[in-house]
Amino acid sequence: MKGLILVGGYGTRLRPLTLTVPKPLVEFANRPMILHQIEALANAGVTDIVLAVNYRPEVMVETLKKYEKEYGVNITFSVETEPLGTAGPLKLAEEVLKKDNSPFFVLNSDVICEYPFKELADFHKAHGGKGTIVATKVDEPSKYGVIVHDISTPNLIDRFVEKPVEFVGNRINAGLYILNPEVIDLIDLKPTSIEKETFPILVEQKSLYSFDLEGFWMDVGQPKDFLAGTGLYLTSLAKRNPEKLAKGDNIVGNVIVDPTAKISPSAKIGPDVVIGPNVVIGDGARIARSVVLSNSTIKDHSLVKSTIVGWNSTVGRWCRLEGVTVMGDDVEVKDEVYINGGKVLPHKSIASNVPKEAIIM
Ligand code: GDD
Ligand code: MG
Repeated sequence: MKGLILVGGYGTRLRPLTLTVPKPLVEFANRPMILHQIEALANAGVTDIVLAVNYRPEVMVETLKKYEKEYGVNITFSVETEPLGTAGPLKLAEEVLKKDNSPFFVLNSDVICEYPFKELADFHKAHGGKGTIVATKVDEPSKYGVIVHDISTPNLIDRFVEKPVEFVGNRINAGLYILNPEVIDLIDLKPTSIEKETFPILVEQKSLYSFDLEGFWMDVGQPKDFLAGTGLYLTSLAKRNPEKLAKGDNIVGNVIVDPTAKISPSAKIGPDVVIGPNVVIGDGARIARSVVLSNSTIKDHSLVKSTIVGWNSTVGRWCRLEGVTVMGDDVEVKDEVYINGGKVLPHKSIASNVPKEAIIM
């Protein structure tokens, strides 16, 4: 089977992390976001994966080529000279996607869930339509593509409304599809939105169905959702692979700690925390609902809550970080500093308090 992952876009909503690393390579639960998807595709029997890229392809190629062997897949890079949107990349990769008559998967690179690809393929074959969209329910549908159903035929989509201004429903496009190769014939090689241009044609043809997702789902393309998604992922991990979670007197709730991290026995970690490789956590530090990326240090008695600490950064002693603070690569926070909702650009040093949401550059 075949799959295409849409890895374009600049990931601006995940800045300052994406100023250093392309969004799909930012570590989610200590592994590049896109590896979760590559692994799930490989487990479902996909052997050919196309990564549709329009931004810094070199970094992606270097990082991902080494995973081909590990997961037993061929990864090809389809590089756009101008951003082709969410449909144009399918046309650009036509050769691979049409190499046989079987349907192919399409994934937005920023969605995290349990990826039920096998069940999706079975469901798709059974209804005989040209496409199937994975659907999930959310509280705030206006940020997504909303699916409205035909009442007479189960799962047949009657309307697809991208980012609706008025409420039309709360079942949304989860950003995972399976499509027949003939769908590519509906797309021109130019910047095109699959949501706004291709899906409405399939709806018109009464050939687009939806498949209900079980379990958690999150688009982790912005810091608040990245942290919420981490919590949901850890809850799911606690059910599926509890042995992957950290244990100990200083661990509260669901926590992942890389084996190379050094945590003081008097620190308290959790719930919903991910500690990356070579991280050092000092005496009496308190970390909750946060992600600390590789090679960073949190010194003694600091509190880190609802925060993403970027790579190679240092948080001093007696600091307090909270309110969806995000530190980029190589940031230094001096002792006793308070940051509430600050987005700190790479290579900055912070010596005074940031009491409310601000970009520090
Ligand atoms: N190759 C390529 N080229 N990829 C692109 C381009 C492009 O020009 N533009 C966007 N992408 C990729 C993004 O990297 C992402 O993986 C995916 O296409 C969707 O773009 P987003 O910018 O993340 O869209 P969204 O989150 O606002 O909305 C989409 O996802 C929602 C689910 O999270 C839509 O598909 C919605 O309908 C959906 O509900
Ligand atoms: Mg998105």
